[in-house]
Amino acid sequence: MRQTIRFYLGEDLCTLRDVSPTLTLLDWLRERGRTGTKEGCNEGDCGACTVLVVRLEEGRLNWRAVNACIQFVSMLDGAQIYTIEDLGTPDAPHPVQSAMVEQHGSQCGFCAPGFVMSMAAYRKTEGASADDQAIDDALAGNLCRCTGYAPIVRAMKQAMAAGPDRFDAQVEAIAERLTALQDGKSVRLEGPEGTLSIPASAEDLAEILMADPEATIVAGATDVGLWVTKGMRRLKHVVPIGRVPELRALSRTPEGLRIGAAVTYQDARLAIAELLPDAGEMIRRLGSTQVRNSATVCGNVANGSPIGDGPPMFIAANATLHLRRGAECRSIALEDYFIAYGKQDRQPGEFVEALAIPIPAQNALFRAYKISKRFDQDISAVLGAFMIETDDQGRITTARLAYGGMAATPKRASGAEAALLGRVWDEDALEAARSAVLEDFAPLTDMRASAWYRQTVAANLLTRFFEETTGTEQARLARTGGLAHV
Ligand SMILES: Cc1cc2nc3c(=O)[nH]c(=O)nc-3n(C[C@H](O)[C@H](O)[C@H](O)COP(=O)(O)OP(=O)(O)OC[C@H]3O[C@@H](n4cnc5c(N)ncnc54)[C@H](O)[C@@H]3O)c2cc1C
Ligand code: FES
Ligand code: FES
Repeated sequence: MRQTIRFYLGEDLCTLRDVSPTLTLLDWLRERGRTGTKEGCNEGDCGACTVLVVRLEEGRLNWRAVNACIQFVSMLDGAQIYTIEDLGTPDAPHPVQSAMVEQHGSQCGFCAPGFVMSMAAYRKTEGASADDQAIDDALAGNLCRCTGYAPIVRAMKQAMAAGPDRFDAQVEAIAERLTALQDGKSVRLEGPEGTLSIPASAEDLAEILMADPEATIVAGATDVGLWVTKGMRRLKHVVPIGRVPELRALSRTPEGLRIGAAVTYQDARLAIAELLPDAGEMIRRLGSTQVRNSATVCGNVANGSPIGDGPPMFIAANATLHLRRGAECRSIALEDYFIAYGKQDRQPGEFVEALAIPIPAQNALFRAYKISKRFDQDISAVLGAFMIETDDQGRITTARLAYGGMAATPKRASGAEAALLGRVWDEDALEAARSAVLEDFAPLTDMRASAWYRQTVAANLLTRFFEETTGTEQARLARTGGLAHV
């Protein structure tokens, strides 16, 4: 057991003993004089606080842009952090900084450091390309209030074509020092502002939670961070799970895909897309690059939100949730986890170990549609995710139609599903499902959408599913026009 947390800030090893478990990286950096990292929204939306976090994972360095405002310092044990101050100097600027100057990409100077850090991280992202959509995705988590995106995008393209940066020469040195930090020890700090327990194994985690079932599990903190920065909540005992190897595992099994509870959306996205291409595409729209770099798939499920994007998709795909309490493990159908608003099937001391998505049947049709006011960085008003399977005669044998935003929990449309079973997937079946889905839900009116809008959209998404999966000309045009998820 260690009683410190350790990480590198630039070239400096930082060893902290007295630290609040919910101190944000942003506050810590700024208190140390690293004021190039800005505070804009303090809730993960604007990207002004973006920093570069490097971790050693399976022997390789993983470079990620992260929102420092909703990342707790306590989650960074074993990591390497770079801020704008580490990037370059006036005499030797980083290629991104040169490109921003040459393309006139820096205007107000407040959002610029965050943009630069996202751009520097993107250059280090495996498979990063300079095409327009990829760059838009990479920068969607950075807001420029004066809408000066065009020169910033030009700068990104220029930087993608530039030569190596100072980090390229240091890869081995960084890997070496991060290896030296990996001692496999769990951490416990107790202080006036709360207790921090960092488990180093699933066994440790199970013990910690059995001893204190009230402790707060923290995965990516893209929800929990806001409880602190916006909700002003004090958390007595914080348990970051990012160092638990069993929970970090993303494994392909003969049955499908098993996503450990500490696996982020960014790391899971391609594997999910292999099974469910439409879900992979949808994940592009979940938050932003910075959010997906921290947010875990299981955190999106565990929080029980009725408007999370993942749960309806995974329910439609017939996913299973694996839970553990002490030494006892159990598995449930994901849909059974959601009991009522704010109430999930999770016992005190129990935690989510993993989510398992089965390989869809060969003839399965799957689509997921997110309806929100903006393409990026927006919470869904309605999310519809649908899977149907048919027999040799084209009759529907399985129908799983799941929605978010329509009820107090993510929920299947049982009436619409029943209306489809045994029928051929044709116009009549569609009409039956459309009528039934209106009876399945009594949604609320809130700031995102009215009840009428939600009902109308829920039925119309079924029409869209029909159009796309029965291959009409209109559907083909919608797809090739790039409008599939708008
Ligand atoms: C700017 C921004 C944009 C966002 N956009 C979207 C969006 O488009 N779509 C969307 O669905 N969500 C969005 N979110 C919400 C959030 O990113 C997701 O819900 C995310 O997946 C939560 O995962 P996390 O790892 O950050 O969870 P955390 O914040 O760490 O935890 C969330 C909850 O789950 C619990 N928990 C975490 N792991 C476990 C576990 N293993 N066992 C038991 N309980 C656990 C925690 O105690 C907490 O109650 C957004 C958030 C932000 C800040
Ligand atoms: S300050 Fe806006 S994302 Fe952090
Ligand atoms: S250049 Fe900073 S907000 Fe537009």
